Amino acid sequence: MSYTQAQISAEAHRLYGLLACVSKSKAAKWTLQDCLDAAPYTLAINELKKEKNAVVLAHSYTTPDLVYGVADFRGDSYQLAQQARTCEADVIVFAGVWFMAETAKILNPTKRVLIPAGRAGCTLADSMTAQDVQKLRAQHPGVPALCYINSSAEVKAQCDACVTSGNVFDIAQKMPGNELIFVPDLLMAQNIEIELKRCGTPKRIIASGGSCCVHDKYLPQHVENLRAAYPHIVVLAHPECAPDVCKLCDYVGSTKGMADYVSQSSAALFGMLTEFGLVNRLEAEHPDKQFIWPFGVCSYMKKNNLLNTLGALVNPRADQIVEVDATVADGALKSIEKMFELTK
Ligand code: 13P
Ligand code: SF4
Repeated sequence: MSYTQAQISAEAHRLYGLLACVSKSKAAKWTLQDCLDAAPYTLAINELKKEKNAVVLAHSYTTPDLVYGVADFRGDSYQLAQQARTCEADVIVFAGVWFMAETAKILNPTKRVLIPAGRAGCTLADSMTAQDVQKLRAQHPGVPALCYINSSAEVKAQCDACVTSGNVFDIAQKMPGNELIFVPDLLMAQNIEIELKRCGTPKRIIASGGSCCVHDKYLPQHVENLRAAYPHIVVLAHPECAPDVCKLCDYVGSTKGMADYVSQSSAALFGMLTEFGLVNRLEAEHPDKQFIWPFGVCSYMKKNNLLNTLGALVNPRADQIVEVDATVADGALKSIEKMFELTK
């Protein structure tokens, strides 16, 4: 595929119109030259999408050239799962991590699901096996088990329902009994216990020991530093952060929850205890607001790029094609569908 200078320039200016306010690193913004470099790829990917009847779903933690250059839909884990479930295209290109693409395949098994990053892991999903859940369930017979969507299909298949960061507190509250197994995020499990107690519906949460390698690095000191440096700052965090961090924040929620909070807030300055990609999305969508981000990059999400997205569409490598064992998929589907049923 080759494009004229005029086509490349027009595409670069389209991208730059969206990305001019977006940080490329802590010290630099996206430039017109960055967009000129990206344009031949975004043009080719968008042309191939039409040719192959493909859609690109991108998690907000992937890079802005994917999110604004080629994605047909961008969002959090729940929104992307919903999109995958109802998708009518022949091919779903999932710019995210493996468990997300696997969930898409389980929800819409007749589609060809591709993940540009290949088998991009997640420290939560990789922390637990199906056998670990079976052991935990055997130790606590009769106790319902929830798994965070950041888990493998095998783990999902062993649980009664799956949750995302956007519906975890509601679904935990709806589960029967006063005990609950929650895997694989220990910090989120602690946040559930605190939130259910606050709501007057306490439960003992039986947890495993996984954590997100991005969000588990935030400390109370980081919130205190933000407040000391910027007295009017509004601090937002993801529920994968530790409870002693969350309790100091103004809002705790999913990536969509944080984005909605910013849209509805009259504040102008936000501290973001989450991954850089969400900060980039908010910069693109709220050029009138400022976002202070201490640190936090998910190297797994960042394995997706324009080059491997193009490669996956042209001729996918075996590790970019998502397949799930039929028996495992059947069990995992029940747990994911239970989540949709229980979500308000
Ligand atoms: P969200 O569902 O809130 O986007 O979270 C996904 C994730 O992996 C957070 O680290
Ligand atoms: Fe997993 Fe953390 Fe990356 Fe989210 S940010 S995909 S939880 S490692």
